[in-house]
Amino acid sequence: MQTHVVDHPLVAHKLTTLRDERTDSPTFRRLADELVTLLAYEATRDVRTEEVDITTPVTSTSGVRLSHPRPLVVPILRAGLGMLEGMVRLLPTAEVGFLGMIRDEDTLQPSTYATRMPDDLSGRQVYVLDPMLATGGTLVAAIQELIHRGADDVTALCLLAAPEGIDLMERELAGAPVRVVTAAIDRRLNEHGYIVPGLGDAGDRMYGTA
Ligand code: URA
Repeated sequence: MQTHVVDHPLVAHKLTTLRDERTDSPTFRRLADELVTLLAYEATRDVRTEEVDITTPVTSTSGVRLSHPRPLVVPILRAGLGMLEGMVRLLPTAEVGFLGMIRDEDTLQPSTYATRMPDDLSGRQVYVLDPMLATGGTLVAAIQELIHRGADDVTALCLLAAPEGIDLMERELAGAPVRVVTAAIDRRLNEHGYIVPGLGDAGDRMYGTA
C-alpha cells in the first residue's frame, strides 16, 4: 500500500475553503469537484495507454490514448458521488460502477447496501472515490471487494485522510496493489470518528442535509 499526498498550492487553497464551516453547499460541491480533478491528475499518472498513429494537419505522427480494458471508477455512495464528475472529466472513457456503503455511527463498522459493477475486474485499473479516509473500515471493505473481483491495480482518491485510516489500510491491505492519493493527512480522529481538524461530514456538507 502506498500513500501519496498531493503537495500543491492550489490543492491547499481549495482544501482550506472546504474546511471552513462558512463554505456553503454549492461552493463546497464546486471546490470538491475541482480538487478531485487535481488529485485525479496525480492519481492517473500510471493509467495504461497504448500507442496510436495519427495525422496532424501538418504530418503523420504517433501518440497515445487510454487503452483497454477501460479504467473503472467506483464512487462509494453517498459522498463519493460528489467526486465522480471531477474524476471522469479526466478519464472520459472510464466505466463507472457504484458501491453503496454505510457505517454504523456507534460501532463505526461499514456494511454494503448496494453494489453495481462488473463481476470480473481482472486486468482492470480501478479508481475508488471516497472523500474521507477516517477509520479506514469502509475503504478497506470496498477495496477487498474489488480485489475479490480480480482488480489488480486499485487507487483510492480521498480529499482527506486520518493517520488511523492509513494505518488500518497498511495493515489490512499489506502487499496489495493499492495506492491512496489524498490532499492531506490530518492529525487524528475524534471520539465520534470524525477527522480533526477535518471538514465535518462530507456528505452533509455536499448535499446540505443533516
Ligand atoms: N466521514 C466524514 O464525512 N467526515 C469525517 O470526518 C469522517 C468520516
